[in-house]
Amino acid sequence: MTPSLVSVWLHLLGVVTWIGGLMYQAHVLGPAARRDGVAPLVEMLRRARRVTWAAVALVVLTGFYNVTLLGPLDRALQSGAALLLALKFMLVLAAVAVAGQRDFAQVPRLARAVAAGDDPRPALSAIAWMDRVVLLLAVVIIYLGLAVSRA
Ligand code: HEM
Repeated sequence: MTPSLVSVWLHLLGVVTWIGGLMYQAHVLGPAARRDGVAPLVEMLRRARRVTWAAVALVVLTGFYNVTLLGPLDRALQSGAALLLALKFMLVLAAVAVAGQRDFAQVPRLARAVAAGDDPRPALSAIAWMDRVVLLLAVVIIYLGLAVSRA
């Protein structure tokens, strides 16, 4: 087992944990909460937040290490890997920003609405939209990750 293999392995474990967890929250927990009540969802989203951000940290740290394994810059520029990586990095920044807004602004807003007995739907719908945006970005980012490693 080489360090580069371990790094890509951890990178992908982090990706699966982050994006798989988000898929589950968006497509299973969200609809169940809209049907059966929002209160239990708040605690689940709070717990998921810890796992999500541990996974994001793992993905970003191993991602930077992976960059060091791409080889000389002129080769990466010639093959197109550098351009694909730059595009991927911008989309990752956007995905992390939206995920941060969702977890650290909208989830607390939902918790406050539930605690005060207010209408939780505005926060729920903001969370649902942000989940769609992050999942859509992830589809493109995963493609770009595969393209970088094959360029
Ligand atoms: C700062 C953030 C990130 C950086 C710097 C980064 C960097 C890289 C690099 C350099 C590779 C190529 C590894 C190799 O060929 O050895 C790679 C592969 C990959 N990355 Fe990322 N990445 C980041 C975040 C992400 C995210 C957020 C996702 C998915 C949501 C992702 C998905 C992938 C995938 C699917 C591969 C392909 C692995 C392979 O085929 O070997 N990456 N990443």
